[in-house]
Amino acid sequence: MPATHQRLYINVDHVATLRQARRTDEPDPVAAAALCEDAGAEGITAHLREDRRHMQDDDIIGIASSVRTVFNLEMALTEEMLSIAERLKPYQITLVPERREEVTTEGGLDVAREPGKLANGLARLKRAGVRTSLFIDPDAEAVQRSRDLGADAIELHTGTYAHDPSNARSLRALIDAAELGRSLGLTVHAGHGLTVRNVAPVAAIAAIEELNIGHSIVSRAVFVGLPQAIAEMREAMVSARRAPR
Ligand code: PXP
Repeated sequence: MPATHQRLYINVDHVATLRQARRTDEPDPVAAAALCEDAGAEGITAHLREDRRHMQDDDIIGIASSVRTVFNLEMALTEEMLSIAERLKPYQITLVPERREEVTTEGGLDVAREPGKLANGLARLKRAGVRTSLFIDPDAEAVQRSRDLGADAIELHTGTYAHDPSNARSLRALIDAAELGRSLGLTVHAGHGLTVRNVAPVAAIAAIEELNIGHSIVSRAVFVGLPQAIAEMREAMVSARRAPR
């Protein structure tokens, strides 16, 4: 069976990181999102952090109101973020863990902790008509719990794999978790730390329908521009999915 198309969602947080380095008005992440869409991104992802270190509320409002594809808003499960989500109603919310001192999201959600709070949050988002995804480590129990909590999708944390792509165990964990998720009826996404150099084995996992990629595309775009950076990533994904396994 030919592998289904895999969607590429681009995370534009680090366009805002560059702007915040000077607290000026450029580069504008809302304009970057539009450029990404022109270059073939199938979705735009942004993380509104509690500390507002990159994306600001107006960026999120701007992206939510201007995307022509779909908007995947990443956020922690807090009352503040839930009410923003209920107001903006993005296409999809990916719930992520957040720690103030971290450089980036460091691990998947602990879905065994406070299951009642998670289930209530997911239910509120569903009532608002938002599709829900949980960012989790590639672990069978976390996948099963995500389904039991009522999420529509899971996003598998690829950070451990990306840190050491030669470690066959971390790739195996992604394959197994993706297949389990699909068999349970979840839509499976993946992301974190993916680059053109390490994306192929993850792109080749048929059960993974969507990749969320930010840092490496924005970094490459500094040299070659967003359209080319996106084209290079797309080419790496498509050829990996086409390659015989
Ligand atoms: N998915 C999630 C849930 C994330 O938090 C991030 C980083 O913000 C990404 C994907 C993208 O990771 P990267 O910027 O390393 O491509």
